Amino acid sequence: MKQTILKSINEQINAEFYSSYLYLSMSAWANNKGYKGIAHWLEIQAKEEHAHAMKFYMYVQERNEKPVFSKIDEPASDWNGIIDLYEAVYTHEQKITDLINNLYSLAHDEKDHATGTFLQWFINEQVEEEAQLADILQKLE
Ligand code: FEO
Repeated sequence: MKQTILKSINEQINAEFYSSYLYLSMSAWANNKGYKGIAHWLEIQAKEEHAHAMKFYMYVQERNEKPVFSKIDEPASDWNGIIDLYEAVYTHEQKITDLINNLYSLAHDEKDHATGTFLQWFINEQVEEEAQLADILQKLE
């Protein structure tokens, strides 16, 4: 695996763990405000993000490389209500979509077709996640 790809995947592992951390922080906020259903939904999202990080982690090892971890940023811990929170989730997912797309472009440029194929799952997942969030936001508004 080319070092440029490995470096970007390691960064993606960090981004997915950060997503998990962020959604768990949001879940704690929602639970504290008494929004139990939303807290539960966010807890499930946090677990899914952890699973995304693990998919990258396993893939790097399948390619006989070693994943390298870096510091996970501190997530926000307060939001101005449910719409503000869901807008933050939506914006965050759009950022993740950009990262996945950049990684896919890099895999293409480096002719790493295995990584390109691996990333297809994430490309589809982001379409689903963004659609779900747009739907939730529309209902909330
Ligand atoms: Fe790992 Fe919600 O994207």
